Amino acid sequence: MDKETSKKVVVSGIRSTGNLHLGNYYGALSKFVRLQDDYDCRYFIADLHALTTNPDPASLHQSVKDILAEYIAAGLDPEKNIIYVQSDIPEISEMYLLMNMHVGIGELMRTASFKEKARKALGITSDSDEIEKEIIGNQTNQRVNAGLLTYPTLMAVDILIHKADFVPVGKDQEQHLELTRRFARRFNSFYKTDYFGEPVNFNFEGAALKVPGLDGSGKMGKSEGNCIYLIDDEKTLRKKVMRAVTDEGPQAPNSPVSQPVENLFSLMSLVSTPDTVKYFRDAYADCSIRYGDMKKQLAEYILKVTLPIRERILDIKGNDEYLSKVVKNGAERAREHASRTLKEVREIMGIRKI
Ligand code: TRP
Repeated sequence: MDKETSKKVVVSGIRSTGNLHLGNYYGALSKFVRLQDDYDCRYFIADLHALTTNPDPASLHQSVKDILAEYIAAGLDPEKNIIYVQSDIPEISEMYLLMNMHVGIGELMRTASFKEKARKALGITSDSDEIEKEIIGNQTNQRVNAGLLTYPTLMAVDILIHKADFVPVGKDQEQHLELTRRFARRFNSFYKTDYFGEPVNFNFEGAALKVPGLDGSGKMGKSEGNCIYLIDDEKTLRKKVMRAVTDEGPQAPNSPVSQPVENLFSLMSLVSTPDTVKYFRDAYADCSIRYGDMKKQLAEYILKVTLPIRERILDIKGNDEYLSKVVKNGAERAREHASRTLKEVREIMGIRKI
């Protein structure tokens, strides 16, 4: 709870590793927007987290700008929320150093996302548990950078520096949130204080819908090259949807639905009406379905969501003055909260004026 606004505090961010896609939109951004009227929301662009995978400087900078424009275009109001760039808040970096003193490298190495990224960095394809040995013993030029290891510390600090109550994130971030609570408890018990609370995910009504990709498997994600971006133009978007992976079609009435086709149904249920979904489900069941028709419809519905956002993105993106005003103001407001927390944390830890 924030003392001044007496509203519960919400914090979340997205890494700046490229343009935002439909998965980001339904998984995060649309939720951010839903919370903005009732909570004290602080949303940021996680550019320091993006650095853990060593982007080239020009594309990192571009991505921060793009996402900022996309946040606003998707409906995040800079008046209602604190919108900022993570690296604009130096207090986060300092508190990250302090918090690391209470974080174990073992628990960081056991984090699922770390293991996955470390394997990728070392070019390991098996999912054996030998990853720790591989990391320590590796004498080649490939390395797993320390920033990747301490990713969860940085994320915990993003959240704790605001004393957040709620952190709307997807399922893949639950483990990081669990670590955040663990670090908070550990800090409290070490210093015999109840300084930090325990932030939780925000539970929205209804089942959390996964946003699948167009390549027939898994979820929509930047790295997989299977996604629809908010910024995609009409032609590109239609082409992508028409090319989505399917199968040879139902061979007998009421056949089970394959994963790639189920993905199209999932996408359809995100962007269209239950009637439309039922229409195509029925057509699948009685074998009259034509995937081409379904994809055409799907593309139309997706465009209804994304085109207005795209228009606004293009509009906002050209306005550098406006964008820098937004982040300047956001940084000022975020730093007010962050500097208070950092000051208190330093004091608790014994870093005091002589
Ligand atoms: N790790 C998050 C992701 O990849 C991004 C993130 C960084 C974040 N810091 C955060 C999300 C703090 C919520 C709160 O999606």
